[in-house]
Amino acid sequence: MNQLTASCLLYLFLLSLAAACDRCAHKSKASFSASSSSLSAGACGYGSTALGFNQGYLAAASLSLYRAGVGCGSCFQVRCLDPEICRPAGTKVVVTDLNRSNLTAFALSPRAFAAMARPNSAARLNHLGSIIAVEYKRVPCEYPNRNLSLRVEETSRRPRSLTFKVLYQGGQTDIVAVDVARVGSPAWQFMTRTYGAVWATNRAPDGPLQFRFVVTGGYDGKWVWAPEEVLPADWFAGQVYDAGVRITDIAQEGCLPCAEEWH
Ligand SMILES: *[C@@H]1O[C@H](CO)[C@@H](O)[C@H](O)[C@H]1NC(C)=O
Ligand SMILES: *[C@@H]1O[C@H](CO)[C@@H](O)[C@H](O)[C@H]1NC(C)=O
Ligand SMILES: *[C@@H]1O[C@H](CO)[C@@H](O)[C@H](O)[C@H]1NC(C)=O
Repeated sequence: MNQLTASCLLYLFLLSLAAACDRCAHKSKASFSASSSSLSAGACGYGSTALGFNQGYLAAASLSLYRAGVGCGSCFQVRCLDPEICRPAGTKVVVTDLNRSNLTAFALSPRAFAAMARPNSAARLNHLGSIIAVEYKRVPCEYPNRNLSLRVEETSRRPRSLTFKVLYQGGQTDIVAVDVARVGSPAWQFMTRTYGAVWATNRAPDGPLQFRFVVTGGYDGKWVWAPEEVLPADWFAGQVYDAGVRITDIAQEGCLPCAEEWH
């Protein structure tokens, strides 16, 4: 085992310990974000593409849930706590941005915020204020009609300089590494997370490209391979390429008992 592989495995192990109790419930606060467009601003790199995610149920996450960008694209169930006003199921959001406020776990899009209310209780929910107590847990993201996809960014310069963002990352998973190779070649080149869901390399191989991803969910890291061509030799910026695979893993049970369970 070479050194890079060993340190990568150690890294995966540590990451997976941190992620192992994702199913637990957490108490925090959430704020109302007046417009969805402020949730597609920058820190995840989705841009306006984010507005089409998850039917507009979006959130900007705190630094600890953003996790240096690894948390971009992760999904959470969030509910407010007043039993008369709040639906027990709350709302399911996808993280599309960072909110640096340390008062709240999430800034919720208008649609997500309103969805926490019971029927006919939206006005009462609004009266609770713009920052309210919530409970949340991580849940799998569901993209029933979408494969994992790569959107090539405008900063790319064929053939060497390739930057893309990862779209439609399903399941309850983190993508912690991405490698690229010419289709059929064993010469994998690692890519680097630039920020958020954006990955880049200045050493993209020539020709049609295939990819593999290291995905963690619960305790295990695993490779997800896109074995076929994903980018053609004449790939171009602005285009979304279907990776031909789906990520649907969910975090495994069996971690330490949760401090808070979701009832
Ligand atoms: C960030 O969170 C704070 C509350 O903690 C909220 O007042 C602010 O509007 C949020 N920012 C955005 C862009 O949603
Ligand atoms: C939260 O943010 C405020 C303002 O940025 C800062 O003064 C305070 O120390 C922070 N609190 C914690 C616990 O980090
Ligand atoms: C997803 O990938 C599968 C397998 O490669 C492929 O058959 C399908 O057309 C792709 N696209 C969608 C939207 O499912």
